Amino acid sequence: MKRKQTISLRQILLCFFILLCMTNCNDESSKRPGITKSKTEKKLNSSAFFQKKELMPIGAYYYPEQWPKEQWGRDFKNMAAFGFEFTHFAEFSWAQLEPKEGFFDFVWLDEAIDKASKAGLKVILCTPSACPPAWMGINHPEIYLTGFDGNRKEHGLRGNASLSNEVYLMYVDKIVSAMARHYEGDKRILGWQVDNEPPAIADFSPSAKTVFHNWLKDKYKTIDKLNDSWGGSFWSTRYDNFDQVVIPDELMNNEDKLSPHAVLDFRRFTADITARFLNRQADIIRKYILPSQWITSNYTNVTIQSDPRRSDHLDFPTFTMYPINGRNELGGDNFRTGVPYKIYEACDYYRPINGVTGIMELQPGQVNWAPINPQPEPGVIHMWLMQAFAGRCSFVCTYRYRHPLFSSEMYHDGIVGTDGVTLSQGGREFVQAINDIKKLRTQYDSTAVMPETLLKIKTGILWSHDVMWDLDIQPQTAKWNTWKFRNNYTSAVKSTAAPMDFISEKDDFSKYPFLVAPAYDLIDEELVKKWQEYAENGGNLILTCRSGYKDKNGHFFESGWAGPLKKLLGSSIEYFDMLPDGSTGTVNFDNCDYKWDIWSEVLSPGEGVDVLAAYSDQFYKGKPAAITRKCGRGSVTYIGAATNDGLLERQLVREIYKRAGSKIEDLPKGIYMEWRDGFYVAVNYTDNNFDIPIPTDAAIIIGSNPVSPANAVIWKLKGK
Ligand code: GAL
Repeated sequence: MKRKQTISLRQILLCFFILLCMTNCNDESSKRPGITKSKTEKKLNSSAFFQKKELMPIGAYYYPEQWPKEQWGRDFKNMAAFGFEFTHFAEFSWAQLEPKEGFFDFVWLDEAIDKASKAGLKVILCTPSACPPAWMGINHPEIYLTGFDGNRKEHGLRGNASLSNEVYLMYVDKIVSAMARHYEGDKRILGWQVDNEPPAIADFSPSAKTVFHNWLKDKYKTIDKLNDSWGGSFWSTRYDNFDQVVIPDELMNNEDKLSPHAVLDFRRFTADITARFLNRQADIIRKYILPSQWITSNYTNVTIQSDPRRSDHLDFPTFTMYPINGRNELGGDNFRTGVPYKIYEACDYYRPINGVTGIMELQPGQVNWAPINPQPEPGVIHMWLMQAFAGRCSFVCTYRYRHPLFSSEMYHDGIVGTDGVTLSQGGREFVQAINDIKKLRTQYDSTAVMPETLLKIKTGILWSHDVMWDLDIQPQTAKWNTWKFRNNYTSAVKSTAAPMDFISEKDDFSKYPFLVAPAYDLIDEELVKKWQEYAENGGNLILTCRSGYKDKNGHFFESGWAGPLKKLLGSSIEYFDMLPDGSTGTVNFDNCDYKWDIWSEVLSPGEGVDVLAAYSDQFYKGKPAAITRKCGRGSVTYIGAATNDGLLERQLVREIYKRAGSKIEDLPKGIYMEWRDGFYVAVNYTDNNFDIPIPTDAAIIIGSNPVSPANAVIWKLKGK
């Protein structure tokens, strides 16, 4: 009897709280369907959070709850003595922070922060929302995410909650508020991370369905508009009202395809819900922090389902980075040095979102989760750290300081080994990098500006998650891989040593003398106009196959292929082709044949258009595969063929820089060269020594030239 009364009282309070949250959400204006902006949001100048002269402080995760209290002090002292400047606490520790519903325990965390601070370490605090404690799931099983098969997730994993479930969200609000209030104005806290690697998993739970319906109502207002957008006249898929709408299950999307427009909207919804979840936590924390403290989340470096640009209440996004994941991109020993484009692509993607980024987790050695987990090549962890510096990271943190002795990740390396005190190979390389950063600090020049030669080749990569989702939903050939396609283009750009930023349609294109838009298939009139003006004003625009085929709903245009691009290209696209496994076609460029097998478009150039490359076999032998034309003071190029090895793309992109009269480098894949704050940095993922084009009178500060495999070299030009 007594128990019953307690539960019902709690339930009444819960309903009241939920209603309160819902009313609070409803009275705000929204930018995207179903997404509300808090009054506490403020636009910040993110670069103000970090002192440029400190370049890139390095820190390490520590989980006090996993170690005897008596060892904390020793561990923090050692960490600080190794040169780490900050640590990272509380991620996943909800069961310790709220051991019983409504009972918060900060005593242990206070003690850990106190000890860390006394050792000279600042602390990044993390909200534990990824791991709801057991009591929550027992009392409210509806908090869990439901898979497409109707199976509900259970306790014991992380990222297992439904981000649409108001009960879960209410508990998140409570723990985040309690933490933020408890550490209000605490100067020992460097900044906050909300959640962990926001995964944006498709959720088929009843709560997700309701919130999806509301999102659709917000977006379409009337069911007829939704039916038009989703192609409701096809296969009787139309709905009479929003409540009938079924969550589109992509896994059913094999032979008989679901409406791709419905799937695209569900991807957008899932990303929006994730962004709302992160924003909601940020809004709470924001009320209690000092202006110098920041809020971020740690996205995975390859973020497919969540879209970091949507989480606009965070100060800046950070990312996690595990370059060795079982792949061997370059052959030879590259399985020990890591996928070569991961670090530069992540830095160049995350940094421009709000001007600042950092690596929240950098692989410290062997991991536990890849299909096969080889030892990293000695030296390579140091090399990654130097590349993170080159990519203008404001800090790097590593997961994790101590090698775990138990549970799921016990085969994961740390900075120190299983004895808790001895540096691992990765640990030694972190310490080496820490000392190198200290050395670079002594040579930091606050007046250094990017050299003209680099500014003249600065390149934007136009990227949108909506575009990536649309291509992934309708690949049309099993060989299509949007991410790999983009890698081929960024590799081509990086071979020139051009500084690169991923940018969005909303950004100012004019800062970039070169702009590459890989397979940018969703367009509208406004974007075509922006591209046209960009080129007319002197920009060099490079479009590729699969550009401009569809409107923003993902419908084809009622015109020839990519009809709205016809004027911009001065050409049209006649048809496209793809090849089965085992077949390759060839494209001739500059008297060399290049293999293609993924996608080809046969182009029909108009007057004043130069044919750059043509097909040299198939029934369309001799027809153009790539074209370019002058457009006002700039140029427009279209590359219609997609290759697996990226060699054709590399040569064609390089040709555009050359035609524009730019001075570019010629770096093979796996060798990257960057500029930061007056320092030049080069790294080597290949198996061979490489002679970096360093001027003879430059001063080498770190490493040596030729740069050997798994090594970095850093230099400064004379007098700079
Ligand atoms: C990351 C995750 C960490 C840890 C790590 C292991 O993806 O954010 O919590 O699990 O992997 O490599």
